[in-house]
This record gives sequence, structure tokens and C-alpha cells, in this order.
Amino acid sequence: MALLFLLPLVMQGVSRAEMGTADLGPSSVPTPTNVTIESYNMNPIVYWEYQIMPQVPVFTVEVKNYGVKNSEWIDACINISHHYCNISDHVGDPSNSLWVRVKARVGQKESAFQ
Ligand SMILES: *[C@@H]1O[C@H](CO)[C@@H](O)[C@H](O)[C@H]1NC(C)=O
Ligand SMILES: *[C@@H]1O[C@H](CO)[C@@H](O)[C@H](O)[C@H]1NC(C)=O
Ligand SMILES: *[C@@H]1O[C@H](CO)[C@@H](O)[C@H](O)[C@H]1NC(C)=O
Repeated sequence: MALLFLLPLVMQGVSRAEMGTADLGPSSVPTPTNVTIESYNMNPIVYWEYQIMPQVPVFTVEVKNYGVKNSEWIDACINISHHYCNISDHVGDPSNSLWVRVKARVGQKESAFQ
């Protein structure tokens, strides 16, 4: 049991390029499911679901503005243990579409992005 009911924790994008293409071996870490974005008053929050695991998983959320030239995946939340991420600070022009992806990490192993 981790204590998750702290303030919505937004770790600002230490936008550090991912090094290489991480280990793409057969992953035993399942991907998050039902990734959805809900927006209240222009404050989009990403939610996802995850199966119960013997070890506590952490999640990394990345966003990318679609339609912006040369836009890159930006870390919105890194290694968080709750199942939501406030991406308000990472959304540029609200008329642009946004791509969001979430991956899980358990110990040193990561899932693919979902
Ligand atoms: C997650 O998505 C699946 C497939 O769309 C759906 O059947 C399931 O009810 C969803 N789970 C929840 C908790 O919404
Ligand atoms: C996230 O956690 C993993 C595993 O503990 C660690 O290797 C990685 O550096 C962490 N990333 C950040 C940005 O804290
Ligand atoms: C999300 O972040 C924005 C900007 O920091 C903030 O104004 C908003 O209240 C946050 N939303 C939630 C639900 O925490």
C-alpha cells in the first residue's frame, strides 16, 4: 500500500530525451488500459486503469502536440503511482490535438506505451 492521496502531483517535464529504445524484450509488464482524457475547464487530466500487481507499479505519461511541427514527446508525469496525470501545463494551443501515452514500470521493467 503506497500513500497516494497527496496533492495531485505533477512532476514538471524534466524533458530529457529517452536514451535509445529501451529494452524491447518480451515484456512481462502489462500496458495500462482504458487511457482516457477528461477535461474540466480546459484542464485536461489523463486517467488510465491498471491491473492489480504483486509489486506497486509506477507510471510515466508523455504528451505530444499534434499539428505542431517537430513536436516531441514530453514527459508530463514521471514515475507516479496514482492513476491520473494533470497535463494542463503541457497543452499548447487547445485547438491542436494531443497525443498521450502511458507506460507502466514495475521494478526495473517497463511495459510498452499504451
Ligand atoms: C475498459 O475498457 C473496456 C473495453 O472498452 C471496457 O469493457 C471496460 O468496461 C473498461 N473498464 C472500465 C473500468 O471502464
Ligand atoms: C523512474 O524510476 C526508474 C526506476 O526506479 C528510474 O530508473 C528512473 O530514473 C526514474 N525516472 C525518473 C525521471 O525519476
Ligand atoms: C491542473 O493543473 C493546472 C495548472 O497547473 C491547474 O490550474 C488545475 O487546477 C489542475 N487541475 C487539477 C484537477 O488539479
